[in-house]
Amino acid sequence: MKLFIDTADVKEIREAAAMGLLDGVTTNPSLVAATGRDMRSVLQEICSIVDGPVSGEVLATTYKEIMDEAHDLAAIAPNIVVKVPLIEDGLRAVKTLTGEGIKTNVTLCFSPIQAVLAAKAGATYISPFVGRLDDVGHEGMELVAQIVEAYANYGYKTEVLVASVRSPLHVLETIRIGAHVATLPFKVIHQLIKHPLTDVGLARFLADAAKIPAAKKS
Ligand code: E4P
Repeated sequence: MKLFIDTADVKEIREAAAMGLLDGVTTNPSLVAATGRDMRSVLQEICSIVDGPVSGEVLATTYKEIMDEAHDLAAIAPNIVVKVPLIEDGLRAVKTLTGEGIKTNVTLCFSPIQAVLAAKAGATYISPFVGRLDDVGHEGMELVAQIVEAYANYGYKTEVLVASVRSPLHVLETIRIGAHVATLPFKVIHQLIKHPLTDVGLARFLADAAKIPAAKKS
């Protein structure tokens, strides 16, 4: 499974990259707005930190405007992936961008049928939002399982990028289902590493180690 971080905060990205676990980054307009910086400079800085795919989202909702924005974003760095909403003009833009060799991440996916349409348009990634489905009483990870099954049925190459992740359980399910990528908030990355039994075990080893007599010098 590939692990992306879902943030536009470059401090968090630097820290996650230093852990050696980071395969890529996803951003969205809300995350960029939270930084108080402009889209271009944030994406430029993120791409200078991370070699893997960095998703930057278009703000336009009509074909021509999406294409213009997509070209501007793609010019920022070779590892930019253009994030496009799952709407009619968005799918049309994805088809054209794919033909031009520009990578895309189709976002705001809430049904397996939408996911199949994105794959037919040639999307590089499809982003099902699992946490937002859980929030309205639907099993978000069930959607991921259905997309993985549908893609396997037809041999689509689009990668399933599990988004709107809220807890380590979403990550565990991602691994069990075999989705390609999970994009995680910084907090969840920390939660994945931490286990109380690891902390207790380490404290006991260190306490016992303090009782080991020093070796005699010959
Ligand atoms: C994914 O690409 C989105 O940026 C993100 O995962 C949305 O998560 P949220 O539902 O926590 O806002």
